[in-house]
Amino acid sequence: MVDTGSELKVLISRRRIAAVVKRLAEEIRGDYTGLNPLVVGILKGSFVFLADLVRAVNMPLQVDFVKLTSYGDSTQSSGRITVLLDLNCQLAGRHVLVVEDIVDSGLTTAFLCDYLRQKGPASVKLCAFTSKPSRRKVDIRIDYLGLEVPDKFLVGYGLDCAERYRYLPDLCELKEK
Ligand code: IMP
Ligand code: MG
Repeated sequence: MVDTGSELKVLISRRRIAAVVKRLAEEIRGDYTGLNPLVVGILKGSFVFLADLVRAVNMPLQVDFVKLTSYGDSTQSSGRITVLLDLNCQLAGRHVLVVEDIVDSGLTTAFLCDYLRQKGPASVKLCAFTSKPSRRKVDIRIDYLGLEVPDKFLVGYGLDCAERYRYLPDLCELKEK
């Protein structure tokens, strides 16, 4: 089925995305070499970015995923977060790198980083592909940030609107017609 009824405008091209991923991967490799980090992706949005990132980092690491409550079909965060799918491994002594597609209000990543810190890891850091700083409701430190983006609703490169558009290779702005 073709996605219709909305207009898509490329905001960040796949070429620019690749350059951003390469830069982040180099930073992460520099900081985590020899530490066998646990890379924790937040489902579902982060799966495309995480897949590109770990291959660009290209050093020993482990991958796991969590699933938290998300936007559902609307474009507004409920602010209430619960863990729908938890990690499958022990965190004691591990260096944890949380990977997120976009930090909006910051509620999701703030919740997850606090939640993970309670499990006794050696460190917890955050890598986000994009951030909308103008939308922030809680103060959150992004240790590895790809790009700041404007307060627009974005789809593609893993990001969805009601489960549509995740497959788009570019990051696009969604404009309802
Ligand atoms: P936060 O808790 O408000 O920071 O929301 C983060 C989550 O909201 C991300 O993991 C995304 O799944 C979703 N989100 C925020 N902004 C967008 C957007 O522009 N497009 C698609 N999803 C978004
Ligand atoms: Mg998400």
